Amino acid sequence: MATNNGCVTPSAATRSSALLRRRLPLFLLVLPGLLAAGCDNTQSALNPKGPPAANIAMIWWIMFTISAAIFAVVVATLLYALHRRREPATETLERRPVDRKTRTIGLVWVIASGAILLGMLAMDVRSNQFQSVAPSPVVFTLQVIGHDWWWEFNYLNSGVTTANEAHIPVGRPVAISGESADVIHSFWVPELNGKLDLIPGHTNTMWMQADYPGVYRGQCAEYCGDDHGLMALHIVADPAEQFAVWLNGQRQPAATPQDPAALVGMNGFPSSACAGCHTIRGTKAGGNRAPDLTHVGSRRYIAAGTLENSPENLIRWISDPQGVKQGNFMPYLGLDPNSEFVRSTAAYLWNLK
Ligand code: CUA
Repeated sequence: MATNNGCVTPSAATRSSALLRRRLPLFLLVLPGLLAAGCDNTQSALNPKGPPAANIAMIWWIMFTISAAIFAVVVATLLYALHRRREPATETLERRPVDRKTRTIGLVWVIASGAILLGMLAMDVRSNQFQSVAPSPVVFTLQVIGHDWWWEFNYLNSGVTTANEAHIPVGRPVAISGESADVIHSFWVPELNGKLDLIPGHTNTMWMQADYPGVYRGQCAEYCGDDHGLMALHIVADPAEQFAVWLNGQRQPAATPQDPAALVGMNGFPSSACAGCHTIRGTKAGGNRAPDLTHVGSRRYIAAGTLENSPENLIRWISDPQGVKQGNFMPYLGLDPNSEFVRSTAAYLWNLK
């Protein structure tokens, strides 16, 4: 046996270092692949799609370049010091006086380091100012309220409320006003902006702009409890006309569905447990603890980005919310996924476009 009382014997150590040497080329070969796997461009702060995000990406690259250059200089200096021919060791350790040249080099390094750090700080402060105040004219203010564990969006000028998915017009600055209903969350859509802390009893502001149409995924960036990891959102950037159509649609109360199953769901909803927490505008369902469902069928995802929106996933979510997202505040009511209530409610919600 190579091991003895749990201790690694020299022969085992030699074998493992030989193994390491053999595997090293393989590791170096797959390393670029592993690194590239992290380079999926969605939800990346280095793939900016608007001015605030571009500003952050620029600062990142500047700081990365400066830091890499400093690292290279430090390592080169260290290697030089290690390989330099040394004077033979003397018996006594007497203190040698520091000569003038060494003193000057030291002073230059200290001043240069201070100047670089101050420069980085100035860039950071300027960027923060740029991020927090929207350039005028802004199209509207989007209020973002963080909840455990979902996002409420209020279009302050038009009275539209939605959840987990908000639309914005392409190429126009949108002011963001952030708050929280419970604990501290952080609103972050990396391709569009920096992080905005959502703090109970306090309003923070910033702005975002998408220069290209698309769906931009965001994620809560501040640990906020059990389902912090399942607190995603989507910002959809539409061309101006399409956005106007969307906003007008969202402004309308819920339409009466044509589908017979959905009609059954509509009639049952206001007196169900669901209505205690959810609002569907235009109906008697007026709960205010959970996402507004007036146009839930038009959203791409449900449960804050956890499930793609589909009739099947709505059934799954209604009948077993804790199985999908354990710890969230939608209670498990022991509903049979094949029951008429679950199927008709899912049909109704799917029809709320
Ligand atoms: Cu909300 Cu983390």
